[in-house]
Amino acid sequence: MPAIKCIGILTSGGDAPGMNAAIRAVTRAAIYNGLQVKGIYRGYKGLVTGEIKEFKSQNVSNIIQLGGTILKTARCKEFCTPEGRQIAYENMKKEGIDALVIIGGDGSLTGARIFAEEFDVPCIGLPGTIDNDLFGTDTTIGYDTALNTILDAVDKIRDTATSHERLFFIEVMGRDAGFLALNGAIASGAEAAIIPEISTEVDQLEELIKNGFRKSKNSSIVLVAESPITGGAMHYAERVKNEYPGYDVRVTILGHLQRGGSPTAHDRILASRLGAAAIDAIMEGQRNVMIGIDHDEIVYVPFTKAIKNDKPIKKELVNVLRELSI
Ligand code: F6P
Repeated sequence: MPAIKCIGILTSGGDAPGMNAAIRAVTRAAIYNGLQVKGIYRGYKGLVTGEIKEFKSQNVSNIIQLGGTILKTARCKEFCTPEGRQIAYENMKKEGIDALVIIGGDGSLTGARIFAEEFDVPCIGLPGTIDNDLFGTDTTIGYDTALNTILDAVDKIRDTATSHERLFFIEVMGRDAGFLALNGAIASGAEAAIIPEISTEVDQLEELIKNGFRKSKNSSIVLVAESPITGGAMHYAERVKNEYPGYDVRVTILGHLQRGGSPTAHDRILASRLGAAAIDAIMEGQRNVMIGIDHDEIVYVPFTKAIKNDKPIKKELVNVLRELSI
């Protein structure tokens, strides 16, 4: 395998707090190890359009605390076509980039896997998504910050929910995964979480009502994971209005505020460790793996595993929430 002298770095898909800390870590670890670094703007789109700039250590100064991504991000249609990827490859070669570090979620790592296979380009992925839905890593960059943002919002909503003695359905992100909803519910002391992972097993609303979740309480908070499988918060509010008209129901959809904000210490440390490990992996000759964390140790997870395997929800967490919300 030819020696790697220059790496390209990009962020792709939905942004996540901590992506900047990861960009900083990859850039500085690469320079420390004698590699040249090129920042690619707007995700894969920048590879196709040639929006690429050399990064020195100073280019990543004072960004560890910033949410979003200084490299911008995009979901790129052109890169989904063989013609688009061919142009991307040619631009990469023109810039002298030998390997890529891709920070993103499921879709971004899928793009990396296809590109790596087609053009034999070494690609290393970093799990950057608030959804925490990548297999093989305990957590992803941005997840902890998003969870804390959810807590902040739920604490505030609880004040008004209690004053008015209302039932609130609060919809949180997560795409098809319920990690934000479930752990957000445990951490905020919510009465329940409605998550896609168990939507087909039980009617979660009926279960809630049957358990008399409001008997001794003057407000109730239910976190609902966005997903076509759950149907979202509005769906449950409508059901309650129709099936249990005694409740005074309101809905809050937290939306994109979950994606912003300064990353927590946890996400900054995670991003720094994963970013440095990405360069270690490149120096060791690894390719087409996502860098993850498993029991506090760095692990290399093949793209195929990280993307295709469904990351399971721990039943123990579901039970903890049930037991503690009586
Ligand atoms: O994957 C991150 C995420 O925030 C999901 O939780 C959400 O479903 C999606 O991105 C929203 O995407 P967009 O910003 O393109 O609307």
